[in-house]
Amino acid sequence: MEFPFDINQLFSERVSVLDQTLVAGRTSTGMPQLQARIATVIDELGRASAKAQQLPASITSASKLQSQRHQLYLLKDGESNGGRGVAVGFLKVGYKKLFLLDRQGVHIEAEPLCVLDFYIAEGVQRHGYGLELFNFMLQHKNLEPVVMAYDRPSPKFQSFLAKHYSLTPSVPQANNFVVFEGFFLNRPGSP
Ligand code: ACO
Repeated sequence: MEFPFDINQLFSERVSVLDQTLVAGRTSTGMPQLQARIATVIDELGRASAKAQQLPASITSASKLQSQRHQLYLLKDGESNGGRGVAVGFLKVGYKKLFLLDRQGVHIEAEPLCVLDFYIAEGVQRHGYGLELFNFMLQHKNLEPVVMAYDRPSPKFQSFLAKHYSLTPSVPQANNFVVFEGFFLNRPGSP
């Protein structure tokens, strides 16, 4: 996704980790224009993600990121667009307190890291960028994908998880979250 400003000025790393401050690894004071541009990038990506998932409204925006304790991993391609860079996609994660059903149908309270939104720009999907971003997050969080929960994963994302991490659906849940075979085995204190 291209923007009328230099993506490389906003994001120095190939993958940036953004939080409530909206500014990747720098202090936000005195940089209103920088912050406004980062907000534009997040808002545009969030809108495109909602459209791709046929959602009525964006679940990712700069203002939502500022008010929630989530983390957004943003992947850029710094060489494209005549060296100004393009935003390739994002992955948003956060901890959620969930009531889940285990194999025996017993309610379990857990607070796993959840994948809340995930989007790679149209035209460059199925090029391995999603895998690069997801693996970056796993390494950054030092987690295996099986211990995470997934908020309403789309068919493409379910296919992605089956292909790259051999994750197959587990116990159906009463909420929108999906956990996979092995989630309950990998919980601390489980046999
Ligand atoms: N149809 C079916 N499977 C797909 C598709 C597609 N159009 N695109 C990607 N995949 C899955 C397949 O398993 C594919 O492997 P294959 O090509 O051998 O069939 C695999 O992903 C490819 O892996 P990557 O290239 O690393 O994935 P990509 O860069 O495309 O990122 C993502 C995956 C984020 C799901 C991307 O396709 C996308 O943005 N889709 C639209 C938005 C979306 O559905 N996001 C998930 C929302 S659910 C949530 O966030 C909890």
